[in-house]
Amino acid sequence: MGPEEDILSGAFPDGFRTQLDLLMRLRRDVRRFRRDPVDEAVLTRCLNAIQHAPSVGLSEPWRILRINSDAARDAALKNFEQANAAALAGYSGDQAELYANLKLSGMREAPVQLAIYCDDETTQGHGLGAATMPEMRRYSVVAAITLFWLSLRAEGLGLGWVSVLDPDQLNRDLAAPDGWQLIGYFCIGTPEATSGTPELESKGWESRQHALLIEAR
Ligand SMILES: Cc1cc2nc3c(=O)[nH]c(=O)nc-3n(C[C@H](O)[C@H](O)[C@H](O)COP(=O)(O)O)c2cc1C
Repeated sequence: MGPEEDILSGAFPDGFRTQLDLLMRLRRDVRRFRRDPVDEAVLTRCLNAIQHAPSVGLSEPWRILRINSDAARDAALKNFEQANAAALAGYSGDQAELYANLKLSGMREAPVQLAIYCDDETTQGHGLGAATMPEMRRYSVVAAITLFWLSLRAEGLGLGWVSVLDPDQLNRDLAAPDGWQLIGYFCIGTPEATSGTPELESKGWESRQHALLIEAR
């Protein structure tokens, strides 16, 4: 039996589980990137993880735009800067000062940038599950992004999720097809540094809950 057959019949080995736990603990949202290019073969390997993701009705509703041109990158960056300024205006006092000092995107530096969408109109999956809860398609894309995120981290790369954006403006600037819903804008590259602590926690914006709350019914 090969390794895949061994695993098909049961659990993964202890050593693997320890590594998987580490991978999940050390996944970070990254906003500070080195400018060096990402190896295309490595990027492809990580993107392939998306094809292993669960999706409602097997609808595979993820759609990806790779943002390469200066014009598209500039439009996305301007969009972020405007949305970020508007968000800052919604805070006051110490919180505004704290917000102003957060770095909430690596869009100036990240060598790879993707806009990831959900095709809300796909017929793949024949509506199974999505007929009752259409939002499940979008959750499927989020599930796929999580696999991509972990896969990048395993390669020593980082991903930063940018949601401080006007999605309608971005869709127009990127000429996204009708029916595609923006899930997020993603910066990818080699992190300047790695940490076991979320940056929003180390900067004092928010802290992680250390206990998982589960209510019984
Ligand atoms: C749906 C979603 C949207 C996010 N949007 C942003 C964002 O716009 N800018 C940002 O800096 N981080 C963003 N993040 C990252 C979170 O701030 C980060 O996941 C959280 O602070 C925990 O840190 P960690 O991912 O390093 O564990 C987003 C994360 C998710 C899941």
